[in-house]
Amino acid sequence: MAPRAIVTGAAGLIGQYVVKSASRWAPDRQVHGLTRAELDLTDFVSVERTWQFIKPDIVVHCAALSRTKDCEQDPQLAHRVNVEATAHLTRLCKDIAFIFLSSGEVFDGTRGWYREEDAPNPINFYGKTKLEAEQLVLQNPRHTVVRIVLTAGTSQNGDRSFVEDMCRAAQGGKPVTLYGDEFRCPLPAGAIARAIWELTGKGLPGLYHLGGRERLSRWEIGQALLPWYPELQGRLAEGSARSHTGGSRPADLSLNCEKIQTHLSFRIPGFRSWLKDRVHRGVDLWDYEPVCREA
Ligand SMILES: NC(=O)c1ccc[n+]([C@@H]2O[C@H](COP(=O)([O-])OP(=O)(O)OC[C@H]3O[C@@H](n4cnc5c(N)ncnc54)[C@H](OP(=O)(O)O)[C@@H]3O)[C@@H](O)[C@H]2O)c1
Repeated sequence: MAPRAIVTGAAGLIGQYVVKSASRWAPDRQVHGLTRAELDLTDFVSVERTWQFIKPDIVVHCAALSRTKDCEQDPQLAHRVNVEATAHLTRLCKDIAFIFLSSGEVFDGTRGWYREEDAPNPINFYGKTKLEAEQLVLQNPRHTVVRIVLTAGTSQNGDRSFVEDMCRAAQGGKPVTLYGDEFRCPLPAGAIARAIWELTGKGLPGLYHLGGRERLSRWEIGQALLPWYPELQGRLAEGSARSHTGGSRPADLSLNCEKIQTHLSFRIPGFRSWLKDRVHRGVDLWDYEPVCREA
């Protein structure tokens, strides 16, 4: 019988890519993508019933309350979804592989190019929930945590990625202010999905960082996207995170990804080289299929 994989958060940005790319990167697996509409992970009884029915060999846990703002607004729900539901899943998966998607937001962003052994210090509630969940997951030596950062791509309803957020704001006639002093290492969801399937294939437990090779300011990211998104023309404005009025934002969340790179068959791309490569090959900007040059 084919090994069975469950992917949670299957209607989310990354979950969608993980599910749809499975036929390419994990063709031997039978993949069950679970959306919140199908199964609320905070309903522990239903979750247990589903696990008993599917009997997974591996679980890729992408579901989360993933927006910083939503976590600040409803910390109780954020804790329930990001920490308690994850803890429950780790118990159900105690004898199988479990991959938990965490975030660079576990760092305070004062330094950048963070390695796995660097001390986390989250400065917002989202980051705190992800760190608490990571620590619970890593208690099991079979389990894996992959910290990612700003993820590009498109989603079914066009409402998930930062690229979609920017375009929606621009199409609504709003100026899009992008901070020139806030740095990330964006990576397309297609590359993340491939890396996750490769990790599952090798059964690698522990903590990994997975971000793009290039550290870019939000402003530089917007500039890189301009040729592909004409609706952004004339709408982007450079700003400073110093003028930000909402919750705390880490300034630099670039991640050192040397550890995960040694296990991957492809070279993790930088954001701008990914975009250039797509044009060069004449393929869809975010298509997961012919992703990245080999390592
Ligand atoms: N995207 C990024 O830039 C980024 C960066 C760092 C880390 N991450 C982490 O990567 C993972 C995937 O992120 P993403 O961008 O794909 O997030 P996303 O688009 O917000 O997807 C998360 C999914 O989780 C689902 N969900 C929320 N509460 C649930 C519940 N109680 N039961 C079942 N499902 C529930 C959501 O359902 P609905 O569709 O109904 O809302 C959504 O489909 C998350 O752990 C996130 O923290 C993402």
